[in-house]
Amino acid sequence: MPKHFLTTGEWAREELEGLLERALEFKRADARADLLGGRSIALVFFNPSLRTRASMQVGVYELGGNAVVLEPGGTTWTLEHRDGTVMDGDKTEHVAEFVRVLGRYCAAIGIRTFAALKNWEEERTDPILNAFAKYSNVPVINLESAMHHPCQALADMMTIREKLGVGRKKVLLTWAWHPKPLPMAVPNSFALASAQMGHDLVIAHPQGYELDEVLMEDIRRQAAGTGGRITIEHDVDKAFDGVEVVYAKSWGSKQLYGMPEKDIAERAQYRAEWIVDEEKMARTSDGIFMHCLPVRRNVIVTDGVIDSQSSVVIDQAENRLHVQKAIMTKLLH
Ligand code: CP
Repeated sequence: MPKHFLTTGEWAREELEGLLERALEFKRADARADLLGGRSIALVFFNPSLRTRASMQVGVYELGGNAVVLEPGGTTWTLEHRDGTVMDGDKTEHVAEFVRVLGRYCAAIGIRTFAALKNWEEERTDPILNAFAKYSNVPVINLESAMHHPCQALADMMTIREKLGVGRKKVLLTWAWHPKPLPMAVPNSFALASAQMGHDLVIAHPQGYELDEVLMEDIRRQAAGTGGRITIEHDVDKAFDGVEVVYAKSWGSKQLYGMPEKDIAERAQYRAEWIVDEEKMARTSDGIFMHCLPVRRNVIVTDGVIDSQSSVVIDQAENRLHVQKAIMTKLLH
């Protein structure tokens, strides 16, 4: 079994620290280039992307490799991931063949496969990502799945370290209003990685927008091991008090999963209150503002905050490039 990068939770804190050090070396241009030595990396995108696609393609190129970008159902065949299926529907190829064929050409496979937001009990198990990992003879890199976005989380941890230094920080992950329910991969991975790094994490959201219970158990277990603290807060103003990092993200309700009209009706009451604005940022301890992007301006965050000196969103996006170089070289050497 090759070592994969599916969630940060499968990697020990020391390994994550090593990746962060390596990423910082890449950013300082201290690390060697041409580490891929002409090898190819497959990048499989079921969903749209700016940052992930561009940073992976550039990263592979700068490491002396070749990116093979594939879009199932677009430029490649539609894919079935369920075992034992009678494939008499609209799916042309099974992941079992797709992945093993790619493994004969490519040294690693990156995959982006968002939640369909239809069936919570199924999607919380990350079925497509895990089908890739099951059949792959080469490392699989999660480029955002239904439940996790570990490359983003690692870039986020690097950005916090760059801006605020090493050590425990007071970090807020805050839900924000958005016109429609969104997947939970980014908040899941940010919370998990924050716990692994030992940060004091406040997760703020309205009642009914809880993260997955099993994941929360893991987050609490990780925090217990690193000395971090996890607090759930439903008062959005209080949540900002004294924090050093504000990470905004919207996500959908598990209880209303697969029922977008009901979620949209439920969240309507939170629109005015659950936005990151100047007043809330003034309650922080000179907090930095973070978001994975893309972000809806004046919905998730005001122009005044995202355009302020405290906003580090462009640095976060740049750091995707450096952490992904670190991940690729670690998996392939
Ligand atoms: N943050 C992030 O993953 O951006 P993209 O969806 O544009 O890749």
